[in-house]
Amino acid sequence: MDLIPSSNASYKDVNYWNERYSKEESYDWFKSYESFKHLIKDCVSSSDRILMLGCGNSSLSEHMYEDGFQNIVNIDYSEVVINKMKEKYSNLKGMSWEVMDMRSMSFLEASFDVIIEKGTLDAMLVENSPWHISDENLALIDEILTQVSRILKDNGKFISVTFTQPHFRIPMFINEKYRWDVEQKTFGEFVQYFFYICVKGRPLSQSLLKKYNKAAS
Ligand SMILES: C[S@@+](CC[C@H](N)C(=O)[O-])C[C@H]1O[C@@H](n2cnc3c(N)ncnc32)[C@H](O)[C@@H]1O
Repeated sequence: MDLIPSSNASYKDVNYWNERYSKEESYDWFKSYESFKHLIKDCVSSSDRILMLGCGNSSLSEHMYEDGFQNIVNIDYSEVVINKMKEKYSNLKGMSWEVMDMRSMSFLEASFDVIIEKGTLDAMLVENSPWHISDENLALIDEILTQVSRILKDNGKFISVTFTQPHFRIPMFINEKYRWDVEQKTFGEFVQYFFYICVKGRPLSQSLLKKYNKAAS
């Protein structure tokens, strides 16, 4: 199998990921921790309980751990990658790895201070042009964000690291039922990447609603 699939729809298929991870040892989508650690340090504290969504074989959790963030739960629906990561990092106390689908997470409500995704939502959306996301994909993202909001503590933060520009991504995050407000930051020297922070329990900013011309759903 080629690591680059013939169709972007494969990025939504667990069989694609399982096969890929049986061959690939380590890969970081977009950028590694070094490029955006200043943004993480601004909003995450070392005592926070952190959930990494769709961790893959990225070095992000390892590098955050080395930097003092040592309470990290990593999930991915690929059993192959979770088994490999569990073995590779078995010496890191406080770091755990679980096979779990983001669409139906079994964590109790309000169990995390911080939830991070890097490239995971993008993988679900790249089969469509960003201008025409299908209703099916919008429903999928809503299903995931509803779960994320449920398991996030009050004042907790959902962080999304992505190449997707605000015009496309922020409208997906704007919904009063998630009970969060959205902040946006950027990083990267030549190519710009986005770092969105959804802060739970903060009222949705009216200027954001106005800017994206959206009534809160
Ligand atoms: C583009 S990769 C990003 C990997 C990693 N976060 C990084 O920054 O390099 C997307 C990851 O999400 C995982 N994934 C996709 N859909 C998922 C789902 N429904 N539940 C859990 N993990 C999922 C894939 O197995 C893959 O590891």
